[in-house]
Amino acid sequence: MVEDMKVALVSNRGPVSFVQTSDGFDKKRGAGGLAGALDPVARRLGENAIWISAATSEADRKALVAGEAEGLSDLLGYPVHMLDIEPETYGRYYDVVSNRMLWFANHCLWDELDIREFGQHELDAWDEAYEPVNERFAHAAADYADPDSLVLFQDYHLATAPRYLRGLHPDQTIFHFTHSSFCGPEGLERLPRPLPRRVIEGMLGADLVGFHVPDWANGFLDCCERIGAKVDRSAASVQHLGRRSWVRAYPIPIDAAELQERARDQVAESWRERFLADQTEGGPSKRHVIVRADRTEPSKNIIRGFEAFGTVLDRRPDLAATTRFIACLYPSRQSMPEYRRYSEAIERVVGEVQARHPGSIELFMHDDYDRTLAALRIYDVLLVNPIMDGMNLVSKEGPVVNEVGGVLVLSRGAGSFDELGGHAVEISDALDVDATGEALERALDMDPAEKARRAAALRATAAARRPADWIDPQLEDLSEIQAGREPVTEPPHGP
Ligand code: G6P
Repeated sequence: MVEDMKVALVSNRGPVSFVQTSDGFDKKRGAGGLAGALDPVARRLGENAIWISAATSEADRKALVAGEAEGLSDLLGYPVHMLDIEPETYGRYYDVVSNRMLWFANHCLWDELDIREFGQHELDAWDEAYEPVNERFAHAAADYADPDSLVLFQDYHLATAPRYLRGLHPDQTIFHFTHSSFCGPEGLERLPRPLPRRVIEGMLGADLVGFHVPDWANGFLDCCERIGAKVDRSAASVQHLGRRSWVRAYPIPIDAAELQERARDQVAESWRERFLADQTEGGPSKRHVIVRADRTEPSKNIIRGFEAFGTVLDRRPDLAATTRFIACLYPSRQSMPEYRRYSEAIERVVGEVQARHPGSIELFMHDDYDRTLAALRIYDVLLVNPIMDGMNLVSKEGPVVNEVGGVLVLSRGAGSFDELGGHAVEISDALDVDATGEALERALDMDPAEKARRAAALRATAAARRPADWIDPQLEDLSEIQAGREPVTEPPHGP
């Protein structure tokens, strides 16, 4: 029984972020797919779980010192342990290595962001911050998890922690899951030596290495081969330094029922009414709505999405008269220059399209989950055009809350393309602005019967699997491995 298993979840960002207010601290749910996916898992396991994460901001650190973290387990229903990492070290581990070097490697963003080389600054950040922080997470896992607990390290921030924990507790059952894409040698080998090897050997400290989809798992296996590990492709297992690790894909689903309920609550409802009123104000003019909802993140390819929209309006006066674009974005990782520049560039391209087509784009640049859900309820077209994306939960969330038979426009780089691509309008090359414009146009012009058929198929597919279908196989596979057997989940199919 999964509920009886003892599990330590270990991730950089935890379930809650603190926000300082004039009279104390508010709590916000942790940003991004990872925190949202793990919270229901931890709730289900209750006292059998512990979640180890870092204080990720100044407000988090102050809240820790003020003892605010102690009340978290009552609020959440499971224990949380937050690591207080010295801010300068944290910045080098998070900004310089995790979100710059490793995120860009996993999404192969080197040419997109014109990043040519790394120097001593980055190598020092690896040695003096990334490795020590990973070692600290491993020590915390060793201290807080029982010897028979399953330890689940999450994401690229903690690529080398499995190997450190293996050194401390050789018999612990260890998992590493990557929530982003994993591009493979083309992305990883642009990092200076010895980092590509360190990343792979760090992850291979785990007994089981998980990804959302087979493409990312195969990218990892390619990297294993490049460091000379013995890879058995048919079993998807890797033999290295006297140990064996298994590699599996576990595609993450959404909680459709919970989402549908939240999307209908009062706050979301008033946003929906406001969007619909805007639509009909002064006559039934802007009746077609394109929506996107993303962190301001280069891999999401937001700028090309607006450029493509602009090209459609330029050549189709009929659509220019009837279509508007609601973009629910929220700034992310603003301590990094690449992300600040990206946010500025978004504002710039929106300004350019608006100058040609006034009133065509409504841009929101801060997080409001209810507003996003309301926009998802009313889209005629949902644009999801990442260059590369681990899964992309919005492409699943949209179809289950949408109420008007909206069309999904989806690029091949989204992990969800495997599951949803057959019912979406495909963008085969996310870097191609004209092709993206044509896909938007096809979606806007689609006949109602075809739209309805596709929307129903998308909704059924996105709602078919439940959160338990993601975590339970992981835990079952780990239990098998703990008992000296092979994982039950089938190996991911080849490229
Ligand atoms: C992605 C990553 C997560 C991360 C989230 C938000 O989903 O896979 O690990 O937490 O983005 O990014 P942030 O840098 O704000 O934690």
